[in-house]
Amino acid sequence: MDKLIINGGNRLNGKIDISGAKNAALAIIPGAILAQDVCRIENIPNISDVAIMIKILQELGASVRSVNKNTVEIDSRNVQFYTVPYDMTKHLRASYYFIGALLGRFGKAKVAMPGGCNFGGVRPIDQHVKGFEALGAVVTIEENAIVNAQSEGLIGNSIYLDTVSVGATINIMLAAARAKGLTVIENAAKEPHIVDLANFLNSMGADIRGAGTDVIKIRGTENLHGCTYSIIPDQIEAGTYMVAAAAAGGEVLINNVIPKHMESITAKLVECGIEVEEFDDSILIKSDRRPTRCNIKTMPHPGFPTDMQPQMAVLLAIAEGTSIINESIWDSRFRYVEQLSRMGATIKVDGKIAVIEGVPQLKGAPVKADDLRAGAAMIIAGLVANGTTEVENVIYIDRGYEDIVGKLRNVGADIKRVRVVETAAQVS
Ligand code: UD1
Repeated sequence: MDKLIINGGNRLNGKIDISGAKNAALAIIPGAILAQDVCRIENIPNISDVAIMIKILQELGASVRSVNKNTVEIDSRNVQFYTVPYDMTKHLRASYYFIGALLGRFGKAKVAMPGGCNFGGVRPIDQHVKGFEALGAVVTIEENAIVNAQSEGLIGNSIYLDTVSVGATINIMLAAARAKGLTVIENAAKEPHIVDLANFLNSMGADIRGAGTDVIKIRGTENLHGCTYSIIPDQIEAGTYMVAAAAAGGEVLINNVIPKHMESITAKLVECGIEVEEFDDSILIKSDRRPTRCNIKTMPHPGFPTDMQPQMAVLLAIAEGTSIINESIWDSRFRYVEQLSRMGATIKVDGKIAVIEGVPQLKGAPVKADDLRAGAAMIIAGLVANGTTEVENVIYIDRGYEDIVGKLRNVGADIKRVRVVETAAQVS
């Protein structure tokens, strides 16, 4: 029941260190059970989604030791269960990576369909199922949406994805890493965390080539071993702070990033008139005037990421001119617009298109986070608005941003987290 209180108007100045990538960690953690051994994973973000994935590992029989807040050792030698019930999967969508990982380890998996950020529409898994079936698993969807995948041992095959899916690409890689023979995924997703998962699995002894292109070849390896691996920096966390600095104004060094991963975001900020300087592993954002308009279409990597769309909408909401956002990945990812409108933004949504007429100033208001990235957008809106903004549903933001309040306060934001105590009247 925590909420954030933000007094807007402060310019941001200083340095922000970026944490490890959430979406890489959520694929790598289940991947660790493919070895009957110990994996030490470094640069793990300290966020609630990671905590849930580790809890699931432990329930499956793994022992997990926290070396420090960003390093864990996962010992998968005693993993013996292949069933993950709904009360463990309901909190996050990425729990479905246990289907691929358990199939890879045991040739069978029984995992309840997960929850996670609900963008309003249906989030299908037909391409995941198609991949598991191509590898020889019999997949049935049982009562209460439990995915039951059984096989006599997986055998490599060619799989063409009908749609570019991050989740399906990851799940098939996990399942195929120990299958017999060669698996080829065509029309694969190319996101940085797919490359990171492939690098992690390869350092366990897997043979995966082509990750980062649209054809990934996985030659199954029976015996994978433990490893030490450090997760890449989070592209979306870095992008969120780049946009925050651009919108609030000031000079912020976004540190510990891979600038190549940030290109689509950098290009749009430059188009909006923001100064962006790239270094080896950091990016400097300088912003001292009102941004100008631009159009955005979300696309699979290397296109503009859908997970940066709500944050960019805030920048465009205060930009000079009219901008258009075309959301081509998800059906209903504009629910946050209602909240932004309460702060004075002028945005019209028609299906997958949002037309944003920039206004000179937003005004503080009580708002809520509709999902993880919408929550980040509300924080940016609060930083630039006149007056006080209160952001409810912080629990969504905790899923994917390590210490967002501390990181923003360090660069001069007036933001704090408060506990809301429910009164009897509120509860009833
Ligand atoms: C991942 C990210 C999420 C991001 C999304 C798109 C993680 C944990 N989550 O989600 O943050 O918003 O990529 O970059 O990495 N689709 C199908 N059939 C399928 C699977 C997907 O039709 O079997 C469609 C979806 O409806 C959607 C599109 O493909 O329109 C992209 O989905 P996908 O890439 O799978 O997204 P996620 O992996 O769920």
